[in-house]
Amino acid sequence: MAEPLILGIETSCDETGIALVRGRELLADVTASSMDEHARYGGIIPEIASRAHLESFVPTLDATLERANVDLADVDAITVTAGPGLVGSLTVGVSAAKALALALGKPLFGVNHIIGHIAVDELVNGEIPTNSIGLVVSGGHSSLLRIGDIATDVEELGATLDDAAGEAFDKVGRLLGLPYPGGPHIDRLSREGDRDAIRFPRGLVGGRHKEKHQYDFSFSGLKTAVARYIEGLEAEGVELPVVDIAAGFSESVADVLSAKALAACETQGTDTLVIGGGFSANSRLRDLVTERAEQAGVTVRIPPIRYCTDNGAMIAALGSALVRAGVEPSSLDITVDTAMPMNVIRA
Ligand code: KG4
Ligand code: ZN
Repeated sequence: MAEPLILGIETSCDETGIALVRGRELLADVTASSMDEHARYGGIIPEIASRAHLESFVPTLDATLERANVDLADVDAITVTAGPGLVGSLTVGVSAAKALALALGKPLFGVNHIIGHIAVDELVNGEIPTNSIGLVVSGGHSSLLRIGDIATDVEELGATLDDAAGEAFDKVGRLLGLPYPGGPHIDRLSREGDRDAIRFPRGLVGGRHKEKHQYDFSFSGLKTAVARYIEGLEAEGVELPVVDIAAGFSESVADVLSAKALAACETQGTDTLVIGGGFSANSRLRDLVTERAEQAGVTVRIPPIRYCTDNGAMIAALGSALVRAGVEPSSLDITVDTAMPMNVIRA
């Protein structure tokens, strides 16, 4: 018998993502983004994002069904992001998912967006081994997870105490006068710079942080250090060494993320590290984590970048894992949880 057909709905931020997955096979994945509408404000405007989800939902669903060549009636379960994310954006997706579940008489699974960023890797690289480490890095999140089992046992080892990795890049991008979002621009510039020319601080590393914040991140001190550095040079009327600033800053972030992720692998006795989230596109993080993982005998799994940014496939993949594991569906009266904890896989 064919495995169940899972519809995945993602609307936690500015992407309306809808996908269909059967087992670990992705049948279709369609995303509509409202980023162009936010870019001129230099950040996501929640009301604009919510309205965009409402406008895009039905066309995106129709396009997904058409691409997969399936009927809505053939769907066996509806999975939707229930948190964390923006309250209005999440509410549009969860309301639509409830309506579909009720109308079709199919089970509803409200799931954790961050864990979806890890689950999507199963569609590309196969089953995630039990007892893996997950690193989710994006514009909104930087979390280090212990993945006992992707469907039933996830624990947060650490997270950012202030800015997310991508957010720090976007803020430094603003300081350097780059267009929003600045992350990819800094990445590009950093490759022309000398990463050892300027040594920026590493957040929450070593010394007194060793125990309490061993797996937590902090990037706001780094951002302030970059701001002070730029101010200092500007006060002296010196031209900014933009590529070296970009390289030194990228090095600090990639160093901390990769060091903490591999330390978690070592303490947890794990040989698999799965990385997800839009920031995993960062070239210095990829290089450094690959190099250090090789030395440590750890296998690094990073899905192609189109699966790392927010999409419906990640939610369908997690839904599929839940159904496979025999997890009970959510109740139809679930609400959204903007700060959903990481030990909650299914609301
Ligand atoms: O996952 P994502 O598409 O959106 C969410 O935040 O949910 O991640 C986008 C973030 C932005 O902050 C963007 O600047 C950053 O990831 N980003 C990068 C790179 N590509 C995207 N940051 C540094 N280097 C990159 N290559
Ligand atoms: Zn995300």
